Amino acid sequence: MNKQMLLVATGIIGLIVLLSQCIKQPVTQDLRGAAYAGANTCAGCHQDIYNHYLQTTHFKTTSKDILGSFPASFTYDNGERVLMSVTDSGKVQGSHLFHLSVGSGRHAQTYLYWQNENYFQLPVSYYVSAGHWANSPGFPTSHPKFDRQIPSTCFGCHSSAVGIKNVTMIGRSLNETFEKGKLIYGIDCERCHGPAAAHVAYHTAHPNEKKPMHMTAVRALGNQQQLDMCALCHSGLKTPQKSLFGYKPGDAYGDYFFPDISGPSRPSQLDIHGTQYQLFTASRCFKESRQMNCTTCHDPHQNEANNTVAFSQKCMQCHQQQPSPRCKFDKMAVLNCIDCHMPKLPSSKIVLSGAYYLRTHLIGIYKQ
Ligand code: HEC
Ligand code: HEC
Ligand code: HEC
Ligand code: HEC
Ligand code: HEC
Ligand code: HEC
Ligand code: HEC
Repeated sequence: MNKQMLLVATGIIGLIVLLSQCIKQPVTQDLRGAAYAGANTCAGCHQDIYNHYLQTTHFKTTSKDILGSFPASFTYDNGERVLMSVTDSGKVQGSHLFHLSVGSGRHAQTYLYWQNENYFQLPVSYYVSAGHWANSPGFPTSHPKFDRQIPSTCFGCHSSAVGIKNVTMIGRSLNETFEKGKLIYGIDCERCHGPAAAHVAYHTAHPNEKKPMHMTAVRALGNQQQLDMCALCHSGLKTPQKSLFGYKPGDAYGDYFFPDISGPSRPSQLDIHGTQYQLFTASRCFKESRQMNCTTCHDPHQNEANNTVAFSQKCMQCHQQQPSPRCKFDKMAVLNCIDCHMPKLPSSKIVLSGAYYLRTHLIGIYKQ
């Protein structure tokens, strides 16, 4: 007889209760302390930006939304089956609840459950682009594994704050415990713009003031500082030296990590997952123009996925002439510089029942 295990999703009722609880949370109780105002307060004066931002993958990267379909099952090499099912009761013996979803689902979503003051990753993830459940990246295919503990570093890139209860050393490894329910979902305004309670208080008290007060102007920062705002999370997995949650505009991203000596020295050998910073800054576009950063092409407040025409227009700002006959550079044809010069390449580290493709940021000439 095959042993059966259950993963159980919370019912719709539970979902609504949890969501409404986090919306009702008073602004004064920001988990990060009194210096932070919370993203919903920004909506009052920056309504447009706020509305667009709700569509971004940054906002959606941690949530209660489960994109995978129910009921479903996944079978391991040893014949063990994991069942994904919906329940109202929330308790079935030998099962785990989907407490938290990580990943907006642009490509994939993985799920965490809460137990003994810790988050654990569920063995099954949802591969959105392929439309099916798959073994979680890095998990064995032989049997379902339920004991992968999730460190706070994961939340450092995928959330805005997480309540850490205790940190202890067990032997040589760090053991963290978390505070239940203490989590600010998504990457919010203040992760990039820094603590903004003083800005909100000033402008609330002085509604006629049009000059921004107590707020760093991103455009006034140096180019490297603007790159660093994104590199904090888009330069790959490294060992943090201090908590990424403390970031303020102007900080050097390098101050947050121990120097990385393990990685390959050639950018073409880097895994493309999460390494947009290294790949982009190794490109000739960056090296020979020197004034480019991520916002040359991206608007961090908008969801701009799959808009190759709009992105290609950014290329045209600098490349106005066809450089060679082999370069299909036709303003009349559907503009798409991207598929040739920033092709989708498979990640060498992430496998989700098949290759996991991401856009390379090493802008260059690729064999078709
Ligand atoms: C009571 C009104 C008010 C609230 C609430 C508010 N702001 Fe502002 N903010 C302003 C005004 C006024 C300006 C200056 C004019 C403009 O850029 O719209 C401004 C400008 C800014 C700028 C641009 C600074 C620059 O010099 O480029 C940023 C960034 C910003 N706010 C972030 C935030 C964030 C983040 C929040 C929420 C935590 C927030 N604001 C909440 C009124 C407000
Ligand atoms: C706090 C960490 C963090 C910071 C800071 C950050 N990002 Fe991200 N970014 C992420 C994560 C995590 C994802 C993946 C979200 C998902 O799909 O679940 C992501 C996804 C993206 C995407 C792809 C999806 C889309 O929306 O089209 C773009 C583009 C992007 N980030 C650009 C930027 C830029 C530009 C900056 C700097 C202005 C930046 N990011 C700063 C963590 C961060
Ligand atoms: C991923 C990082 C990131 C997040 C999240 C983010 N911003 Fe920004 N924001 C930027 C960057 C970078 C700029 C400078 C844009 C530029 O140079 O074009 C900027 C510029 C601004 C500006 C001034 C320029 C403008 O476009 O009017 C305001 C106001 C602002 N942000 C408000 C917000 C608010 C409100 C939120 C949350 C709803 C938010 N931002 C979330 C990175 C971010
Ligand atoms: C150093 C920052 C960083 C850390 C730490 C990190 N991630 Fe990510 N993650 C990213 C970025 C950036 C992306 C999107 C860009 C990419 O895939 O190249 C991403 C993408 C993802 C996605 C796919 C989202 C989508 O739909 O595209 C999932 C799922 C994910 N991460 C889960 C995790 C989990 C679980 C952990 C912790 C065990 C973790 N990540 C740790 C930065 C990070
Ligand atoms: C801010 C200006 C700027 C932007 C925007 C820009 N580039 Fe470039 N790019 C350059 C410069 C400068 C060079 C080096 C000199 C040259 O080849 O023209 C370059 C070089 C290149 C090369 C040659 C790479 C090599 O390794 O030989 C390609 C291909 C290229 N760019 C494609 C693009 C594409 C595609 C985009 C849009 C996604 C883009 N560029 C956006 C400035 C820019
Ligand atoms: C020259 C233009 C350009 C610059 C500069 C640029 N990007 Fe991109 N980026 C793109 C294009 C084009 C895409 C593909 C969008 C799509 O397919 O939906 C993309 C996609 C992404 C994605 C999603 C990757 C995926 O396959 O899901 C992330 C994350 C991202 N960019 C982050 C960054 C960060 C961080 C920086 C700065 C270090 C940056 N980008 C600089 C053009 C650029
Ligand atoms: C069908 C694929 C394809 C498309 C589409 C395409 N290119 Fe190219 N591009 C190439 C190839 C191949 C080369 C190398 C040509 C050679 O070596 O003679 C090239 C060369 C280049 C170079 C010069 C590299 C050097 O030698 O310095 C630039 C810059 C460039 N492309 C920019 C663009 C831009 C901008 C667009 C969109 C308007 C674009 N390309 C669209 C395939 C393409």
